[in-house]
Amino acid sequence: MAEKFDVCVVGAGPGGYVAAIRAAQLGKKTCIVEREFLGGVCLNVGCIPSKAMITAGHFYHRMQHDAPEMGFDIPKSIKLDFKKLQEWKQSVCNKMSGGVAQLLKGNSVTVFMGEATFTSPKVISVKSKEGTKTIEAANYIIATGSRPIEIPGFAVDEKDVMTSTGALALDKKVDRLVVIGGGYIGLEIGSYMQKFGTQVTVVEAGPALLNGVADPDCVQVVARKLKKSGVEVLTGAKAKGFKKGKDGLEVTIDVGGKEQVLKADKILMTVGRKPNSDQSGLKNIGLAIDERGFIKVNAQRKTNLPGIYAIGDICGQPMLAHKASHEGVLVAEVIAGQNRAYDAKTVPAVIFVDPEIASAGLLESECKAKGFNDLKIGKFPFAANGRAVSMMETEGFVKIIADAKTSVVLGIHIVGPEASNLISEAALAIEMGARVEDLALTIHPHPTLGETMMEAAEATLGHAIHIIQKPLTRASSNGHRPTA
Ligand code: NAI
Repeated sequence: MAEKFDVCVVGAGPGGYVAAIRAAQLGKKTCIVEREFLGGVCLNVGCIPSKAMITAGHFYHRMQHDAPEMGFDIPKSIKLDFKKLQEWKQSVCNKMSGGVAQLLKGNSVTVFMGEATFTSPKVISVKSKEGTKTIEAANYIIATGSRPIEIPGFAVDEKDVMTSTGALALDKKVDRLVVIGGGYIGLEIGSYMQKFGTQVTVVEAGPALLNGVADPDCVQVVARKLKKSGVEVLTGAKAKGFKKGKDGLEVTIDVGGKEQVLKADKILMTVGRKPNSDQSGLKNIGLAIDERGFIKVNAQRKTNLPGIYAIGDICGQPMLAHKASHEGVLVAEVIAGQNRAYDAKTVPAVIFVDPEIASAGLLESECKAKGFNDLKIGKFPFAANGRAVSMMETEGFVKIIADAKTSVVLGIHIVGPEASNLISEAALAIEMGARVEDLALTIHPHPTLGETMMEAAEATLGHAIHIIQKPLTRASSNGHRPTA
């Protein structure tokens, strides 16, 4: 006999578990099916463990490089116990995943640990060690996420060739790492491993790191710092294959038609992720899937099949946890009969490199593509901010892009300390259709990194206080405050 529910969520990542909680809050009899771990990739082998390792790397680096300047007498070699670091990282993940379990329980969501397969658009079977269960639900929310892409010549075994999962679980220092793909994951992991003493080489097929996904001025700051710290970055370089040699792994790459061989102890494969739409029997029930493997959805995240919704990585870019959570809430509310649709103006994005890059809204190139040809752009450097100086973290800037005609903020791009935390103000500004003046005239507390946002707005208007800008003239188009 099938167990019946109003809502069945498949996949307990940041999309799925959030959807399940909201559905239950709204009075729906809800279950969630998860094959591996509550919290999904993000909490267990993605966002959270990587941030734990990045924190540790930052800490280690600052002890060695910044603390002595502040007067601390630090021994030349600080020992790092990798096994202990792993244990700590795991404890962070366990806390977060345990928290999800408690929240689900507290909201009376039934959790089924097992592999879900759709046997019809209304019925799934859940296979676990204990046996197979059948579930019948009026509504399904598919939130089964994505997995790393593999490329020919590099079979992933999580030993020689690792994905982020293998890299995050390393309990020994790696001497030489070749990272294939200079995107989000490759740079986040490559950066912290470099801090732990690994010689890192990044092989990127495109013309630049984070190509097309981040503001090029921001990327330049990070690229410069990577170079300074000894990370080798090869752009326009395609990874072809590898073999085991006498002295470790030999990775063959193609740079402008010429072959080169890089020596490595491990290879990290980070060339993107693909949606898991080829799993869970999704193809057998007639679900519409696009040519890139994303489930086709409308603004309410409805698929072509009545009562089936899809959220998160499986239904399209950007593949970001917070976008999935937003969709999770939305879909649960749609199922409960509320008038909701996805209409976010921006999905802020953060790349946890050093310094962090965060953005909300449009890149300059995207503004132009959308017909905003007359832009005003202002930048304010962290080097001119008291809090940043007192933190010894002065690299980077806040950059604001606005429509010159209306002064409406179109994009904000930050590279620098706590960019990840600063960007939320930018997201709010863009959602609310703020003008640059709104940011400039909002009193920001002193001394904080947040003042850079206000000053970048002032710089966009041509009159920031803490940097030298050309004298204001009444005639200058961007030089004066609006009178109304
Ligand atoms: P990515 O799409 O960010 O970058 C992949 C890079 O690999 C591209 O620059 C591409 O040009 C390059 N590439 C592809 N084939 C190659 C080859 N044969 N040789 C050399 N380079 C090659 O993919 P990544 O880093 O795997 O991340 C996947 C997704 O995960 C991201 O798009 C992001 O949405 C999400 N993510 C988000 C994070 C965050 O929010 N902080 C952190 C990590 C991942």
